Amino acid sequence: MSSRAPKSTYELVLLPGDGIGIEVIAEARALLEQIGPAIGVGFNLDEVPCGGKFYLDHGSRDWPEGAEEKCAAADAILLGAVGWAGPDGAPVTMPGGKMAGWSPVIGNRMKLDLYANVRPVRCLPGTKHGISGQFQSVWRPDKVDMVIIRENTEGLYSGIGERTAERATDVRVITQRASERVIRKAFEISRERGKGAPADGKKRVTCIVKHNVLHGCRLFLDVFRTVGKDFPDIEQDVAIVDAFAMFVLTQPERYDVCVTTNMFGDILTDLASVLQGGMGMAVGCNVGDDHAMFEPIHGSAPPLAGKDRANPMAMLLATGEALGWLGKRYADDRLVRAKKAIDQAVASIVVRGEPLTGDLGGSAPRSAVATAIRDEALRQLSH
Ligand SMILES: NC(=O)c1ccc[n+]([C@@H]2O[C@H](COP(=O)([O-])OP(=O)(O)OC[C@H]3O[C@@H](n4cnc5c(N)ncnc54)[C@H](O)[C@@H]3O)[C@@H](O)[C@H]2O)c1
Repeated sequence: MSSRAPKSTYELVLLPGDGIGIEVIAEARALLEQIGPAIGVGFNLDEVPCGGKFYLDHGSRDWPEGAEEKCAAADAILLGAVGWAGPDGAPVTMPGGKMAGWSPVIGNRMKLDLYANVRPVRCLPGTKHGISGQFQSVWRPDKVDMVIIRENTEGLYSGIGERTAERATDVRVITQRASERVIRKAFEISRERGKGAPADGKKRVTCIVKHNVLHGCRLFLDVFRTVGKDFPDIEQDVAIVDAFAMFVLTQPERYDVCVTTNMFGDILTDLASVLQGGMGMAVGCNVGDDHAMFEPIHGSAPPLAGKDRANPMAMLLATGEALGWLGKRYADDRLVRAKKAIDQAVASIVVRGEPLTGDLGGSAPRSAVATAIRDEALRQLSH
């Protein structure tokens, strides 16, 4: 990433989407509006409505005309979540079969070439894992600290396929070029993290494939082997996707950085969010060479919408990731400080044990958690 001079004002596009996406984006906005003055940085926040509800209301598009250009011109994008049900109760789709909300999510990933979806998986001290309604500390924070990176522009989400009454196909495209750059990113992140896997401190990149069955995975693995030669200080590791789904929960300490194809990564990172305390804690950074979009990995959670119960932590951590990315890109230490303050604020509230939303075993409303995080982040920045 090329370094430029810090800016006085950064242009951010906010894409609220649907359901709890709208609620958590409002918390991201409030955080940015308070953090900006505290660090002497301006944020121009341009909110663009989008998603399934937008499509239902407007009939032909899942975001307004000009939205794509706004995203392309932004310094960074923050996305809430999309996905809404139509009058028949089924998720709204557009002509051609794409989900309404495709443009801001998958469209942006493809059109802005956000080829790496980087998902940090950390368990913060104090996290209680909710399983069958019981909350207890299952995974040890010192054993869960990995990054899962998924290819973000092709694979099974390439949008190629068709459906008739009797038969449906979804074509999984895996190219050498897209594999090469995301795998290289995985090795670079392992080197940058420097700390390796919690179990043994070894820098290790695990390539998750189903190469015993799938052509695309054979290609992905061949590219992994080739790129890995440029990183002799990093151990190459291979896992078959179905076995990895077990190992990531039973021995998370083995993993430093993992890299995989689009849909495998989509599923595995939701699974891995369990190690973090659930979807309300998990962040996705969609990163290319020139653009980036940051989001919680959760969806619009319609049953939670409008109840002030969604955990805002993932969205606020994603906001911190955006500031960290911008801080690096523009050599702006103010933003890097702000990112650290947000991370520390979330960590201190989790360890304190309140206020927390229901998914983490608490009973506080979203707004109380978000306010506590803002106040704590500002306190950190005032030191
Ligand atoms: N990137 C995106 O915008 C994205 C990602 C995934 C799903 N979706 C869409 O979201 C809609 C709902 O999908 P879903 O139900 O499969 O997934 P979801 O992530 O919305 O919800 C899954 C489960 O996690 C819980 N959950 C999610 N976020 C939470 C939060 N912040 N705090 C507390 N609990 C939280 C929900 O209550 C639910 O039990 C669908 O339309 C789907 O297509 C969008």
